[in-house]
Amino acid sequence: MMEEVTWKSPSNIALVKYWGKYDIQIPANPSISFTLSEAATTTTLKYKPGRGALKVFLEGVETPSFEPKIKTFLLRTLELFPFTSDFDFEVHTYNSFPHSSGIASSASGMSALALCLTSIKETLGLEVLDFFQVASEAARLGSGSGSRSIYGPLAAWGTHAEIDGSSEHYAVKFKDVDTVFTTFQDTILLIDKGEKTVSSTAGHALMDGHPYAESRFIQAHENQSVLLTAMLDGDLETFGEVVESEALTLHSMMMTSLPYFVLMKPQTLEVINAIWRFRKATGNPVYFTLDAGANVHVLYPKSHKEIILKFIDEELRTFCKDGSYLCDEVGFGPMKLNEHDLD
Ligand code: DP6
Repeated sequence: MMEEVTWKSPSNIALVKYWGKYDIQIPANPSISFTLSEAATTTTLKYKPGRGALKVFLEGVETPSFEPKIKTFLLRTLELFPFTSDFDFEVHTYNSFPHSSGIASSASGMSALALCLTSIKETLGLEVLDFFQVASEAARLGSGSGSRSIYGPLAAWGTHAEIDGSSEHYAVKFKDVDTVFTTFQDTILLIDKGEKTVSSTAGHALMDGHPYAESRFIQAHENQSVLLTAMLDGDLETFGEVVESEALTLHSMMMTSLPYFVLMKPQTLEVINAIWRFRKATGNPVYFTLDAGANVHVLYPKSHKEIILKFIDEELRTFCKDGSYLCDEVGFGPMKLNEHDLD
């Protein structure tokens, strides 16, 4: 008989981007993100006394190709979770978003697993001083951006002069914002559903020795300062300017590294231009951000949901693969589930 614990943990979308890291999983610059609500991973971790055997099931199907990543994660987190070598584990994981939609599952997946292990640590009677801080630190060791999935509505990771308690080792909850930002909408336009052409590990490595690295890292600190003030003041225009600039900077870094990559597709640019046109013509507060891929996250206040969804349907949907997009919004962080929640 195995014991088990289940956590549902969300994905997040960075506003100031983490791009570049040092060993092990120390960010080169601070970042801040909206925690999402719908895009999430639910992971059940089953465990029994043993010798560190591991099986991984993805959407109910045993997936041995995921084992090495999780084994590395268990080794990296051994200091936080020293008990893992004395147990056998089964990881059962489900994503709320379609496989290969281009939405990264590493942040939600690694944070869900980190939360399960933190719960087990507590159950075993081992000392856990600050539950979510331990989970965030552990998640970071699996996926840097995963450290931010632990808190909603916003989370900041990496030392920043204006964020009390900020750390390179774990994210902190960030709530000093005008309420408009705690219900922000994120409609994810699925431009290219294929696999990512550059893995995050390879991507971050592109910043080692990058000619613009130092100025980029300084800029991220400055952008974060400007963004924090804008969010506190409810200043949508400045918020949009920083967020869009961060997205384009992320892609610029990829275009100017060696090797170089262009991860935007023609449709990505069509969407960006259409958003700019619509914003200029109507004055509506609608902005975009990008991950390390072609998909576009359309960001806007909840008060403008109706008009922006109409705009997306009429003018942006045509640029999406099979016309598909996902509606998400700012969320409040992970949830522990009981067996009866899972049916
Ligand atoms: C572009 O967190 O996926 O989404 O630490 O190697 O797992 P690893 O990288 P990952 O990188 C995310 C990069 C980004 C920007 C961000 O989320 O801040």
